[in-house]
Amino acid sequence: MMMIKIKPLVMLLVLSCTWVLTVATSDAYPTISDCGMEDLVPVRREVYGHGRIFDISHRFREDMPSWDSEDGIGQFLWLRDSMKNGSLANFSEFKFSVHSGTHVDAPGHVFDHYFDAGFDVDTLDLELLNGPALLVDVPRDKNITAEVMKSLNIPKGIRRVIFRTLNTDRQLMWKKEFDTSFAGLMKDGAEWLVENTDIKLIGTDYLSVAAYVEAIPSHLVLLEARDIILVESLKLDHIQPGIYSLHCLPLRLPGAEGSPARCILIK
Ligand SMILES: *[C@@H]1O[C@H](CO)[C@@H](O)[C@H](O)[C@H]1NC(C)=O
Ligand SMILES: *[C@@H]1O[C@H](CO)[C@@H](O)[C@H](O)[C@H]1NC(C)=O
Ligand SMILES: *[C@@H]1O[C@H](CO)[C@@H](O)[C@H](O)[C@H]1NC(C)=O
Repeated sequence: MMMIKIKPLVMLLVLSCTWVLTVATSDAYPTISDCGMEDLVPVRREVYGHGRIFDISHRFREDMPSWDSEDGIGQFLWLRDSMKNGSLANFSEFKFSVHSGTHVDAPGHVFDHYFDAGFDVDTLDLELLNGPALLVDVPRDKNITAEVMKSLNIPKGIRRVIFRTLNTDRQLMWKKEFDTSFAGLMKDGAEWLVENTDIKLIGTDYLSVAAYVEAIPSHLVLLEARDIILVESLKLDHIQPGIYSLHCLPLRLPGAEGSPARCILIK
């Protein structure tokens, strides 16, 4: 989630080919081909390793939803130098909020004194971001309240949980307009989790792990002790609930209270 106006970070990357958006193969998994040559079509996948490795990060799209906006994240990639115009190489730049797409939140997101003290994404524990995780389906008719948390019976000792909610069924991450009715943790659910479980990494399937109406109170409860990492906007379509090995790698951005992350599950 993004409530605070942050200075956007500019990042650079080199791309070897032009990005050309072609006709989508499906709404859920649009295909992007490049190079403009019919016989040169790169493969873009959601699953690797003969069905063992699932990419649960969203591919960046201009119409990916953005907090409190109807317009999506908009153009985020520019070709600064191009071979067509005489440069030795193609050279692109991108720019978007650090809370765009699949991303993590650091304690500085909702606590100004933590922000000032430097609790940014560069300080997040890689051990916690990588390890066994439980993917659970939560009831579709409620937000994640204390009662729901209790009913999930998540065993002690489980440190990483990914909650799949109605957001996945509603395909909210594929809709450009931000939708405040997304499902997430209510404050009492967050309190119950902190007090009664060993969960230190929480993943969900929309822009905030906390429901919109209690976004700030829930984030405060979860991030106060600086021992919980939040992973937001995961792509959980077509994945069986169960235990996986989760690997999530945010960018190393000192000063940033959030960062896009590549997250995968391995069976
Ligand atoms: C980028 O480089 C490729 C060659 O690698 C070239 O064919 C292509 O036209 C370039 N793209 C642009 C937009 O200049
Ligand atoms: C190449 O240069 C022309 C003329 O300055 C400009 O209109 C065009 O957008 C440039 N194209 C790229 C891919 O940079
Ligand atoms: C969850 O809370 C939001 C408000 O933040 C609400 O609009 C939505 O209907 C709730 N979802 C469910 C399934 O009750």
